[in-house]
Amino acid sequence: MARPDRVEIVDVGPRDGLQAEPGMVPTADKIALIDRLSEAGLPAVEAGAFVSPKWVPQMADAAEVLAGIHRRPGTRYPVLVPNARGLEAAMAAGVEEIAIFGAASETFSQKNINCSIDESLERFRPVADSAMAAGMKVRGYISCVLGCPYEGDVAMESVVRVARELDAMSCYEVSLGDTIGVGTPARARAMVDAVAEVVPVERIALHFHDTYGQALANILSCLDLGVATLDTAVAGLGGCPYAPGASGNVATEDVVYMLDGMGIETGVDMTKLVDAGQFICDVLGRSPTSKAAQAIRASI
Ligand code: HMG
Ligand code: MG
Repeated sequence: MARPDRVEIVDVGPRDGLQAEPGMVPTADKIALIDRLSEAGLPAVEAGAFVSPKWVPQMADAAEVLAGIHRRPGTRYPVLVPNARGLEAAMAAGVEEIAIFGAASETFSQKNINCSIDESLERFRPVADSAMAAGMKVRGYISCVLGCPYEGDVAMESVVRVARELDAMSCYEVSLGDTIGVGTPARARAMVDAVAEVVPVERIALHFHDTYGQALANILSCLDLGVATLDTAVAGLGGCPYAPGASGNVATEDVVYMLDGMGIETGVDMTKLVDAGQFICDVLGRSPTSKAAQAIRASI
C-alpha cells in the first residue's frame, strides 16, 4: 500500500482539547473556534461530547455548542457518545455523526467510562445500531493502543480484539488512540499493521497525542502503510481527564505543514488554521504548542 495523495484531517481540538482544560471555556468561544476551523476547510471537526457532566463538566454545554455553530457544507461535526443517554441527547441536538469510545486497557476503561472492556462493547452495540438506524455515521475509538497510564504496556491482541468488535458493529472507521503519546515509530507501525489485518487500512484513523514528541514521526511511519485519516488538534490542544500525564494531540498546524511539504493534499487553509489556533490560545491565555504555528506567526 502506497502513501496516500490526500489525507483527511479530523480536528478534535474543540472536544479533546477543551475537555482537558482546568477551567470552563465559554460556549461562545467554543462555537467561534469550531466555526473558524470549518472556515479553514477542515472536513471534520469534533464538536463536543454527550457524556456525564459529573465526569467531564467541560463538555456540559455540548447541545448549546451544536445549536450555535454554523454547519458548513463539506464539514462533519462528530461528537462523543458513551451510552444510550448520550445518543438521545446527540439526536436531539441534530448530530449526524457520533463516536463511541472504548479502550484496549481494562484499567483505563474502568477509569474513563466506569466499566470493563466487555461491558463497554455490550453497551456500544445497541447505541451503534440505533444511531445507524437513524441514519447517523458511527466512528469507533480505541484508547491506549500503545500504552496505558495505569497498566503500562498494552497487549497488541487487546487492540486487535477491540478493533474487530468495533468493525463488527459497522463503525465506518476505527480511530487508534495513543492516549498518552508513548508510542515510537516502529511500534506504531507494527500496531497499525496488526489492526489492518482485521480492519482495512482505508478505515483506520490515527489519533496520536504528542506527550513524548513522537507523534509526527509515528504518523509518518504509518502513512507508508496507506493510512489516510488523522486526528489532530488545533494549536496542539488535548488531553484526557482520566489519563494522567497525557498532553496535547499532535497539532493540526504541524501535520498540515508536514503533509503540504510532502505534496499530500488536506484542503486546509494554513493561514486560517493558524488564526483559529491563535484565537483559542488567546482565550486560554497561552501560546500554541505547535512549532509550525509559532514559526508562521513569527514570520508575519
Ligand atoms: P456512570 O457513573 O457509571 O454512569 O458513568 P451512570 O449511568 O451511573 O450515570 C451517572 C450520572 O451521569 C447520572 O446522573 C446519569 O444520569 C448521568 P445522576 O442520576 O447521578 O444525576 N449520565 C449522563 N448525563 C449526560 N449524558 C450522558 C450521561 N450518562 C449518564 N451521556 C459514563 C458512566 C460513561 C456516563 C461516564 O463514565 C462518562 O461520562 N465518562 C466519559 C469520560 C470522558 O468523556 N472521557 C474523555 C473522552 S475519552 C478520550 O479523551 C480518549 C480519546 O480522545 C481517544 C484517545 O486519546 O485515546 C477519545
Ligand atoms: Mg484523545
